[in-house]
Order: sequence, then C-alpha cells, then structure tokens
Amino acid sequence: MEELRVKKIKEGTVIDHLPPNSALIILKVLGVEKNYENIISVIMNVKSKKREIKDIIKIEGKFLEPDETGKIALIAPAATINLIKNFEVIKKSRVELPDEINALIKCANPNCITNQKEPITSSFIVERKEPVLLRCKFCERVMDKKLIEQHFLG
Ligand code: CTP
Ligand code: ZN
Repeated sequence: MEELRVKKIKEGTVIDHLPPNSALIILKVLGVEKNYENIISVIMNVKSKKREIKDIIKIEGKFLEPDETGKIALIAPAATINLIKNFEVIKKSRVELPDEINALIKCANPNCITNQKEPITSSFIVERKEPVLLRCKFCERVMDKKLIEQHFLG
C-alpha cells in the first residue's frame, strides 16, 4: 500500500512495523540528526497488510548493524529490519534489546549522580525485555516504557 506513497528502495535498510507516530522518536534513537547523510524516507500512520496502523523508515545506502537497531526495541519491540540489495529483501530480522543501554536515556531520578555536574554517562541494565524495564546502574531507579519515552537525551 505504502508503495503508492514512497517507492521501493534499491539498497539500504527498511525499518518496518513501527507503532503509529513513533517514527520521529525512532530517528532520534538512531542518532539520525547527528550523523547521517543518507536519503531517509519516513512514512507515518499507514495501514499494513494486516490492517494495523504502522510507521516505516527507509534509509538508503546504509545497512544498520544489530547494535544500532537494538535500541529500537525500546519503543518498537515488534519492528522488523529489512536489508535491501538490488531492490530485493535479502534479510529480514526482528529487533532485539541489548543487555545494557548507554548514553541514550536520562535517569528519571533528579538526585542520580548522572544528573549532577559530574561528567558521568547514563547507563541502564535491561532488567526485563517485554514489557521493557530498565534499571539505572548508579541509583537503581527503575524506568518503564512511559518513563523511558519521556527521558530520551536530545
Ligand atoms: N521494501 C522497500 N524496498 C524494496 C523492498 C522492500 O522499501 N526494494 C519495503 C516494503 O515496502 C516493506 C518492507 O520493505 O515495507 C518489507 O518488504 P517485504 O518483506 O517485501 O514486505 P512484507 O512481506 O509486507 O513484509 P512483512 O512480512 O515483514 O510485513
Ligand atoms: Zn540513576
């Protein structure tokens, strides 16, 4: 269906089955505003074949590595990563959370040492994968999906 809107890509990565309205935060998680030069197409709120509403991100000329896509599972545990070569899907995989999330989320505890003047990078242990639960390594504060979404570092 979305082909009517954004054409198939020749080579790169298609991140599919993202929850509706999640594409912009996913781009942020991938660090797109900082270190990409690729052509990126964002499709939001389209119907999938199964008639679910979803977002899609197409990144041309770049094959994302598992450590880059793992963090996507924080927001979109059902996302699929499609590697495209010569217009064909050559590999389709699910996202999987890593055991640790570093330098991506601000701790929700204002007294946490990572929120003081010290130059300490935030670091969370993935305590549970689904539904996701993170635990701050420094202050033990537990963060659920809602808190996580509110605390992405800019
Ligand atoms: N896609 C693309 N460019 C290509 C090939 C595929 O942009 N050259 C996109 C498709 O539009 C789709 C995703 O990559 O959004 C996965 O493609 P495909 O596996 O062919 O689609 P489905 O069978 O619908 O995937 P799924 O079973 O994961 O829903
Ligand atoms: Zn903390």
